[in-house]
Amino acid sequence: MSGINYERKLEFARKKVAEYKQEHLLEYIDFLDVNEKERLLDDILNIDFHFLLELYKNADKEICAESLDLKPAVGVPKSTMNQKELEEIYEIGLAEISRGNLCAVTMAGGQGSRLGHEGPKGTYDIGLPSHKSLFEIQCDGLKKISEKANISIPWYIMTSETNHDDSVAFFEKNNYFGYPKEDIMFFKQSMIPVMDRQGRVLLETPAKILKSPNGNGGLFSSLKENSIFSDMHKRGIKWIFICGIDNVLVKMADPYFLGFTIKSKYKASAKSFLKRDAGEKAGVFCYKDGRPYVIEYTEIPKEYAELKDENGDYVYGDTNVLNYIFDIDVAEDIASVGLPYHTQIKSVTAYINGEYVESKKPDSYKFETFLFDSFSMLDDMGIFRIEREEEFAPVKNKTGIDSAETAREMYLAVYGEDS
Ligand code: UD1
Repeated sequence: MSGINYERKLEFARKKVAEYKQEHLLEYIDFLDVNEKERLLDDILNIDFHFLLELYKNADKEICAESLDLKPAVGVPKSTMNQKELEEIYEIGLAEISRGNLCAVTMAGGQGSRLGHEGPKGTYDIGLPSHKSLFEIQCDGLKKISEKANISIPWYIMTSETNHDDSVAFFEKNNYFGYPKEDIMFFKQSMIPVMDRQGRVLLETPAKILKSPNGNGGLFSSLKENSIFSDMHKRGIKWIFICGIDNVLVKMADPYFLGFTIKSKYKASAKSFLKRDAGEKAGVFCYKDGRPYVIEYTEIPKEYAELKDENGDYVYGDTNVLNYIFDIDVAEDIASVGLPYHTQIKSVTAYINGEYVESKKPDSYKFETFLFDSFSMLDDMGIFRIEREEEFAPVKNKTGIDSAETAREMYLAVYGEDS
């Protein structure tokens, strides 16, 4: 590191933090070693504080029900299809997979903060007799379809700076669960600084800014930045199957889902299930300003969440499984469009006033983009309604609802004790 460069960088960084009232970020710079100093300064110089402060200003904005132009979106129930229709979409989907036109993407960049598991969420063992991890459960699902389609389905796994190395090491250690190694690709999503309620960017350590992954909406831009779309094109991919990491009943590369999408001539589809109660922590499908949309559980006004029709069913009842299929060209187009940020208020551990402070309650702002915000760029999309007991058992919480225990029970009910 040349002295002049360092001094110059420091001068710029000091000016920058002063302009945005973030001087505390340089409070410990004199105590850092040469490399740490350099890294912290580069980081500060790279941060768009103006943008962050705009996000901060809008962080507490209430969503007012009257200002929303929402209409319910209703899924096509798989359960009402007859045998012939089911066979038809299955055959269409499987044939497309056999031609090598589908890949799978798992979004595993999240921090799983509600679960409180050390390490990547994909490494979590829900206590099945086999002690399979969430990653292995998904891998087994892919193997099954790969066998039926007689082709190895390329699998892309989105990680983040915080869990990338551990995720890759876990696959290495487990010999990629017997899946062809050359067909499993990892890529990192971007991170964004975390702020406190006073609009100060937080430090993780004296030398490092506290950051969190930029939400699952970072998927398409990360596919682009990491040249994954090019890899997909080289492999002849036309469709991208997308899921989160935490649903143990996810049907990986589901031929029914793909066949439904192709037969209905949609460029994108999502799976839904009927919501359990008005407070279920899941988004619901709707049309906003006439465009397909998901309104998240953190943002839906109570009057919409609770609204029932004359039969006593929820009007906004089709709920987001977090399982999508996109045409690759549409996904690439969306990659160039910036998705809006949403604020999540979370507990964090930060370095403040010379000590590590753990929040006692959620008190810090994390900013996230949501992949489903891209739906509003589509004219329309498919919603394929499945049955919760067959396909939706998420592991979100340590105990109680949507925990390892409930997911394990549901998994065993579908796959039996040998699983
Ligand atoms: C998500 C959906 C919700 C749906 C519910 C079903 C979003 C924003 N919300 O809620 O509509 O009803 O699942 O279970 O999609 N992830 C990343 N990077 C990130 C953040 C998350 O890869 O930066 C991944 C996580 O690892 C996880 C998935 O995205 O697999 C969803 O996580 P999260 O954002 O916590 O959403 P949920 O509250 O689970």
